[in-house]
Amino acid sequence: MYKAGDRLPSSRVFAAEWGVSRTAVTAAYGQLADEGYLSTQAGARAVVVSGLEQDPSPSPAAAKTAQRRVSSFAQRISTFKRLNIPEKVDVADFLYGDLCAGDFPVLAWRRALNKAMLRHRTKLRNDQPQGYLPLRIALQGYLWRARGIRCAAEHIVIVNGIQQGLDICARLLLDPGDPFLIENPGYRLARHAFEATGGLAIPIPVDSEGMQTASLPPARLAYVTPSHQFPVGSVLSAPRRRALLAWATQNGAYVVEDDYDGEYRHGIAPIAPLQTIDPDSVIYLGTVSKTLSPTLRLGYLIAPNSLCAAFFGAKRIMDRHTQLYDQEALTDLLESGAYERHVRSMRRKNAHRRTVLLKALGDHLGNSVTVSGADAGLHVLLWLNGVPAEHEADVVAEACSRGVGIYPVSHTFVTSDRPAMAGVTLGYASLDDTQLRQGIAVLAKAIAKYG
Ligand SMILES: Cc1ncc(COP(=O)(O)O)c(C=O)c1O
Repeated sequence: MYKAGDRLPSSRVFAAEWGVSRTAVTAAYGQLADEGYLSTQAGARAVVVSGLEQDPSPSPAAAKTAQRRVSSFAQRISTFKRLNIPEKVDVADFLYGDLCAGDFPVLAWRRALNKAMLRHRTKLRNDQPQGYLPLRIALQGYLWRARGIRCAAEHIVIVNGIQQGLDICARLLLDPGDPFLIENPGYRLARHAFEATGGLAIPIPVDSEGMQTASLPPARLAYVTPSHQFPVGSVLSAPRRRALLAWATQNGAYVVEDDYDGEYRHGIAPIAPLQTIDPDSVIYLGTVSKTLSPTLRLGYLIAPNSLCAAFFGAKRIMDRHTQLYDQEALTDLLESGAYERHVRSMRRKNAHRRTVLLKALGDHLGNSVTVSGADAGLHVLLWLNGVPAEHEADVVAEACSRGVGIYPVSHTFVTSDRPAMAGVTLGYASLDDTQLRQGIAVLAKAIAKYG
């Protein structure tokens, strides 16, 4: 065992002593010198350096260890409850947010992606943080045609899904302790994004006209799903739209408008986004998660002029920019018209699924349930009229044991103040006719046990 300051034998002596080749010893000495264990000088024997005595990982018993701390952000996110998603359900999984893999336009996307990868470029260079300019221009046209939004491409930011847009809004608009308004019930992952930065949720009740705006308290931002309230499904009425925007102006607050499923209206007229009324107060968020795939993690936001620079800066430090090849592929689909054709086809397919679901609900559950929010989007909220809220988790567990995944509405409430009856969300966009029919037939049996 050599200690600091000890001289090692010469490589010749060491090799002879151990019966190994001198080349191997010289290489080993060289490696130890490169790693800083030995100091060497030409013509002199290698010396063991000092400072190696300290054990970098002492046993807990041997040394006093200082407590490692995580940030308050990490502490807050560790308290968030996750939705319990069963590993496998045999009959039907009504998990909201899933799409049918067979609906994805594999050939068109692969072609567009190939084109993007084969495009001639001399350098692989990071793009602008706000996103690929041709995509922003293509989206500008799409948003005008599909949602009646007039905006400049300079105000569009490409994000990794709405979720990243929400995270950036939280970082830009909330300091710890700042209040924010959130629909109750509402989208849990939006609340979590705002709470993670230390924002304080002020739950605002929701009814058949969306968020109740009669007496909104002051706050830094309000998060809303005005075109299709999540999860209730109501549309924010015209007087409440005006009241919300007036509140934002009076309080110097921003409205975060989540238009997550604006492409899907079933027999009702499209509703113009809040952004079209007051682009200075509203941050508009959209996504391809409901039209192409949630796995792409591609979304977009429209920032008010006053916030553009901050959004670009935030995006730059978060991930430089959204993955470029996917942005280019989406541009291709938008420019060629393939995206809008695909959206029309998705609308037809999902309208069919919705019809099958509603028929099955009528056949198997009739008046024992109330269906809410079926006029738009890709899910319904099912209130179980005869089942008290205390049995909500039991019905979910019973359905799961029979091979059907359903998800409790309790997860969407900010407070324990909620309707007395049990409720579950049913997403239908990933299921075929058989799964929808059998799923509801099995669900009816699970509900009957508690109804
Ligand atoms: C209300 C709401 N907003 C946003 C999203 C998701 O958007 P993204 O996948 O783009 O993050 C969902 C997804 O289910 C949603 O229900």
